[in-house]
Amino acid sequence: MFSVTSTRKLTGRRSSVFYQDVTGGLQASQKYLQSKYFYDEAGDKLFQQIMAMPEYYLTRCEMEIMQHQSPAMAALFQGEPFDLVELGPGDATKSWHLLRELLKTRVPFTYYPIDISSNVIEWLEEKLPLSLPGLQLQGLNGEYMDRVEYVEHISQRRKIVLFMGANIGNMTMQQAILFCRQLHDRMRPGDLLLIGFDLKKDPKTILDAYNDKQGITRAFNLNLLKRINRELNADFDISQFEHYPVYDPGTGACRSYLISRIAQQVHIGDETVISFRENEAIYMEISQKYSLEETYYLARQSGFSSMHEFYDSKNMFADILWQRMP
Ligand code: AVJ
Repeated sequence: MFSVTSTRKLTGRRSSVFYQDVTGGLQASQKYLQSKYFYDEAGDKLFQQIMAMPEYYLTRCEMEIMQHQSPAMAALFQGEPFDLVELGPGDATKSWHLLRELLKTRVPFTYYPIDISSNVIEWLEEKLPLSLPGLQLQGLNGEYMDRVEYVEHISQRRKIVLFMGANIGNMTMQQAILFCRQLHDRMRPGDLLLIGFDLKKDPKTILDAYNDKQGITRAFNLNLLKRINRELNADFDISQFEHYPVYDPGTGACRSYLISRIAQQVHIGDETVISFRENEAIYMEISQKYSLEETYYLARQSGFSSMHEFYDSKNMFADILWQRMP
């Protein structure tokens, strides 16, 4: 979908934030890596494949919600002209349905997709106007909070923020509260936030989504080790790590680990050596699942109130519309 070119230079490796985050995580007593680093060029492609897998129900459920309920959402967005800010739009195939409905309602709005990848932004700016004539679009490349502040600075209009795709699941509840509070602090009373939550359900269905038969999720996790090899001049032997996802139906935390098959040492550049014990785990990612009550709790803790819940026909996923409290 996107053609991504790596802009990272080989110089200054040791000082890069990526190097600091990777070595810091691998030197912690419970080794971990940050899932935001999954998405290099190969990672983007693997995630596209994940979204198309039979086991990965999340994307299809949210797509169904957007296809069928965008008119109802657009009706709730009526009123003064607004800015529609989307955090991590991907290829916007889901928000496309909402954008089309909003254009029909004739309330003026500008769409601001925000993404860390400049390729995503360039692709949207080129493609979206073709299928959505009349769309006012300004892509923003950068970190979410920084770019949200920028939109707040350049426009006085009310804000509607989209954070879909269950991306909030990549945070623990505590991290999600902090994140939503930061959004709250950058919004005004009455502004709206639409968040996509993957809901607690049959634990087997959830675990299967992160443990697919074809091994795509496995490749997605291992790809981060390949990225570290390439960009930080490391020597992970990919074949000596195994993908191990777990789902805890009590807490709703789905976590994935890479397990070192053997005792081994890995070099990262010339400066860092990481030792692994046999069966030692690297914690790779959390995909937190929510009950409806937990979404209410998150809203309350971060200064929002739930206005409307949109579900797919099987109640597996919910896009929930929050209003920022005074
Ligand atoms: C993009 C964070 C929603 O957690 O379900 C998919 C990423 N990881 N399979 C998720 C992911 C493994 C995905 N999110």
